Amino acid sequence: PYLSSLLPFSREPPTMNPMVEPLSWMLGTWLSDPPGSGTFPTLQPFQYLEEVYISHVGQPVLNFSFNAFHPDTRKPMHRECGFIRLKPDTNKVTFVSAQNTGIVEVEEGKVNGQELSITSHSIARISFAKEPHVEQITRKFRLNSEGKLEQTVSMATITQPMTQHLHITYKKV
Ligand code: HEM
Repeated sequence: PYLSSLLPFSREPPTMNPMVEPLSWMLGTWLSDPPGSGTFPTLQPFQYLEEVYISHVGQPVLNFSFNAFHPDTRKPMHRECGFIRLKPDTNKVTFVSAQNTGIVEVEEGKVNGQELSITSHSIARISFAKEPHVEQITRKFRLNSEGKLEQTVSMATITQPMTQHLHITYKKV
């Protein structure tokens, strides 16, 4: 019943499109547990909280939003939302994301079992995006043996080669 209130114009609760079944392990509401770890050669290590919503409306696509918060003040930090799609009859995945920092990116990669590895294919940014600009992004999502979702993000900037920026584990709520 709650699904119909989320989709007020929909006559029926969504049936999962078989196209997204290989990514169904990502579906749900997830909360960081423990807090995520941020790193980068130019940064002091930091921690963050994150809420993740990954859903579908019956289309051959997943909808996602990632919403980070400061662990002490709970102030909103990084936010991004977008779509994940599978190329029909393959394990090729595309990931499209808009971020509150003014970046829009497309990543491509593959799903193998309960692991998704993707790399940026194109990154666009607003004219006054904060520097240093990110040049490349790679991510890995996996469902671990405890049923928790993990995300690892690495990036290269104008000044730094590809290095890990984020690692976080989420529990399903
Ligand atoms: C810094 C990119 C996600 C927190 C940075 C920097 C870049 C960047 C390019 C500047 C690095 C430098 O100064 O050398 C990204 C990208 C993300 C992402 C592309 C997603 C794909 C996140 C998330 C958090 C976060 C989820 C969680 C809170 C920070 C913090 C800094 C930082 C605290 C340092 C302060 C600042 O520059 O705002 N990030 N980031 N980032 N990032 Fe991320």
